[in-house]
Amino acid sequence: MDLNQYMEGKYVFERHCLVCHGTRGDGAGEMSANLLPKPRSFREGLFKFRSTPYGMLPTEADLARTIRGGLTGTGMGMFTHLSDSEVRAVIEYVKSFSRRWRKPENYAEEIKLPSPPAWLQQLAERQNHAIKGKELFKGQCAVCHGQDGDGHGPAASTLKDIWNQPSKPSDLRQPHLRCGDGPADVYRVLATGLNGTPMISFEASLSPDQRWDIIAYLTTLKLPAVPSLGVAPPESLKLKPRS
Ligand code: HEC
Ligand code: HEC
Repeated sequence: MDLNQYMEGKYVFERHCLVCHGTRGDGAGEMSANLLPKPRSFREGLFKFRSTPYGMLPTEADLARTIRGGLTGTGMGMFTHLSDSEVRAVIEYVKSFSRRWRKPENYAEEIKLPSPPAWLQQLAERQNHAIKGKELFKGQCAVCHGQDGDGHGPAASTLKDIWNQPSKPSDLRQPHLRCGDGPADVYRVLATGLNGTPMISFEASLSPDQRWDIIAYLTTLKLPAVPSLGVAPPESLKLKPRS
C-alpha cells in the first residue's frame, strides 16, 4: 500500500467510521454500546456480505457495495458522498486491521451465480415451486428463521456469532434485506453464507433448483414496502377547515 493512500484512508476512517468501528478497528467505537447488530470488528477479517465462498475474504467490490449502499436496518449507513478514491483508500485502511489480508490462502474468486429461472416471473409457476420450497424451508431454515420467515424459529434466541454477540435470524419477510432486495441476493447468501454467524453456506446441501424453490416460497411471505399507502388518514389527523 502506498503511504498517500494509507494516509487518505486513515483520514476517511477517522472522520466517518471511527465513532462506530473504533480507533483500533475492533468495533468498539463510542456509538457501539447502543447498536445491535454491533459495528463489525475488522480484526478477525470476517465479513458477512460477500460474493466469495464461505470463510473467504470479500472482494473489493463487495466492500465497496457495503460502504456505498449501507446495510438496511443496522447502524451501517450509506456513504454515497465519498469519492471512488476515498472508498478505495478506506478499504485499504480497513484491511490493515487484520492479518488475514496478508495470507493468499484467504483470497478467492467470486462465485459465479446462475441467472434466476424464467418461471420466477410467472405467478402460477412460481406458486407451484413455492409449495416445494415451503417443505424445504421447513426442513432447512425454519429452526432459525421460523416457518413463516419472521425470524422467530425455536433456535433463534440461542444463537451467537463469533464476536460473542446474539445473532438474530433475519426476518425474511422484510421488503429490504441487508444482502439486497432481489431473488439473486438471497441466492448469493445461500451460496456464500455469512461469515462469523450461524448462517452457514448451503452450497453443498441444497441444489440450485432447491434454492430457487425456497426463494419462490419467500416471495409469498414478503411484506409490502409501504404498507399504508392508499389508505385515507384517520379523521383525527385531517386538517380542519378554519372557522
Ligand atoms: C453509525 C455506526 C457506523 C458507522 C459510522 C460506520 N459503520 Fe460500518 N458497520 C456498522 C454496523 C452496525 C455494522 C454491522 C452490520 C451487520 O452486522 O449487519 C457495520 C459493518 C461494516 C462492515 C462489514 C460488512 C460485512 O459484510 O460484514 C464494513 C466493511 C463497514 N461497516 C465499513 C464501514 C466504513 C468503511 C465506514 C466509514 C466510511 C463505516 N463502516 C461506518 C456501523 C457503522
Ligand atoms: C442455524 C440457524 C440458521 C439456519 C438453519 C438458517 N439461517 Fe439464515 N440466518 C441466520 C442468522 C442468525 C442470520 C443473520 C446473521 C447475522 O447477521 O448475524 C441469517 C441470515 C439470513 C439471510 C440474510 C438476510 C439479510 O439480512 O441480508 C438470508 C437471506 C437467510 N438467512 C436465508 C436463510 C435460508 C433460506 C435458510 C434455509 C436454507 C436459512 N437462512 C437457514 C440463521 C440461520
